[in-house]
Amino acid sequence: MNGARSTAVNGGANGANKNGAQNGTTNGTHPKGDIITTMNGAPVKNVAGSQRIGNQLRATLLLQDINLLELIQHLTHERIPERLVHARGTGAHGYFEVTDDISDVTSADFLQRVGEKTPLFVRFSTVAGERGSAETVRDTRGFAFKMRTKDGILDWMFLSTPVFPIRDGAKFPSFTHATKRNPRSGLPDHTMFWDYFNNNQEAIHFLMFLFSDRATPIDFQHADCFSINSYRFTKSDGSFVYVKIHVKTNQGVQNFTAAEAQTVAGQDPDHQTRSLFDDLEAGKTPSWDVYAQIIDPRKAADYPINIFDATKTLPFKDFPLRKFGRIVLDRNPDDSFAEVEQSAFSPTNIVPGWALSPDPILQTRSLAYADTQRHRLGVNFIQLPINKPEHSFNPLMRDGAATFKGLGATPNYFPSSFSQYGVATQYAQPDEEHWLGTVVDFESQLVDADFAQARIFWEETLASEPGQQDNFVNNVAGHLSSAVAQVRTVTYAMFTRVNTDLGMRIKTATEAAVAGTTAAPAKAGISNKLANMKLADLHAKKQAPHDSPHNFDLFAHKAWHLS
Ligand code: HEM
Repeated sequence: MNGARSTAVNGGANGANKNGAQNGTTNGTHPKGDIITTMNGAPVKNVAGSQRIGNQLRATLLLQDINLLELIQHLTHERIPERLVHARGTGAHGYFEVTDDISDVTSADFLQRVGEKTPLFVRFSTVAGERGSAETVRDTRGFAFKMRTKDGILDWMFLSTPVFPIRDGAKFPSFTHATKRNPRSGLPDHTMFWDYFNNNQEAIHFLMFLFSDRATPIDFQHADCFSINSYRFTKSDGSFVYVKIHVKTNQGVQNFTAAEAQTVAGQDPDHQTRSLFDDLEAGKTPSWDVYAQIIDPRKAADYPINIFDATKTLPFKDFPLRKFGRIVLDRNPDDSFAEVEQSAFSPTNIVPGWALSPDPILQTRSLAYADTQRHRLGVNFIQLPINKPEHSFNPLMRDGAATFKGLGATPNYFPSSFSQYGVATQYAQPDEEHWLGTVVDFESQLVDADFAQARIFWEETLASEPGQQDNFVNNVAGHLSSAVAQVRTVTYAMFTRVNTDLGMRIKTATEAAVAGTTAAPAKAGISNKLANMKLADLHAKKQAPHDSPHNFDLFAHKAWHLS
């Protein structure tokens, strides 16, 4: 819309704001300011005024005032549907760099040369809250990486918990509903939340993370993330290995306690976006090292843990971490809406050398993302600058709203005697997996083994971190005390299945909070001694990660660490 350009400035107040960059806005590129135009590029004479009959405030406006019509009509269409989940987010640009050779397990071109850098955009998010919600709340964090490789866009969509609450895709709508607002009251509802998890106890391992201080990171730079799902590294000879990715922060893991998180949520609901934006504006370059857990398919077949069960992690002793890259962020987006809000990620954005696996959650995800993005952004969302690959060509996918890239007379059917298309034979794969079986209705069942990793997390990991077991109990109690008695009782039994002492401690702390004899931090955080902490103190915490008792390795199962 800034088509017309002139040395004339359209009134002092309407010229480019020279200070714009300081408050995060961009300004006109011409030294004296661009001429503002109507949508068709014609100069506007009177930007903030309107055409009237009679030169006075009470005069009648005219429908022919195109500038006024367009301004208001554009404004009323400014909002688009927010993401169903992960609505609250921020983003940054940077790159992925290969640090160690991994070409023995993948033919992915961008991973073939140590030192090679691939441009990257990341969107960080919380999961359950709406677009304007406070960022430091207890939640999983989403890390969505978009890498512009020469072979197309590769998206890595990871989470700050190493496990997911479900292992059957059909359960995702219930999980999402139960962790959002009550459909009648429009309010968060802790009875609904715990009732759902009481009836879906395969989530117990996830809940152990969600109610530890790991679910209140001080910002995105101080958190790790995990692929959770198993993917495949493939080679051009048709061979493959399964792989899980771990992305570990070089800033040190730093978490808020529940009370600190609650204080910051009140004082600065945008704290995590601000922290990232300020760091990048100040020239900092936050980075993460990237590791692969390589899984030989033959070993996966009879390994006691199902590698496609997203509620489980794989021990490092059997599947050691292998470093192969790092992610560095170095630049803020130029426009939050155009880049962060309009970005569209999907695990189906894959490139040769990286492939999906039979993991049922991953398979379900492969239909969800582009589908919701057609609704959220329109059918041609892939043509938006933040989403479009360096090169793409498919004359069979034509037309639709907001088509930028017309292909003229190129046949829109295939095959055609009027056109020849190349086929990427170099990327063709022979059958990689052989599937044969009877169609069955399957729903995974809860078994005692589902509690084993949650137990290790409680008995070994949290036990080895001073104060973390107490925080966990108080975090659950603060939340659970708002649920009705009938639901609380079942939740006590669920945690008792993890560990008898844990169940007892949660029951005691929760019932005390219900009776009002103690103030559990997550519920009554403002009365906690930390409530007087100022934001400056919390920011200081970020500056000194190594002095913090919470500076532990997030990949928590220390018993499984790479020796
Ligand atoms: C059946 C399981 C799942 C379904 C159906 C699902 C669906 C969705 C949907 C609909 C969105 C919003 C996308 C948009 O509006 O652009 C989303 C966002 C996201 N999902 Fe999932 N999801 C699932 C599991 C997972 C898992 C296991 C992970 C990571 C391991 C994950 C990571 C993310 C991330 C990082 C985002 C934010 C993307 C962004 O910043 O734009 N999801 N998911």
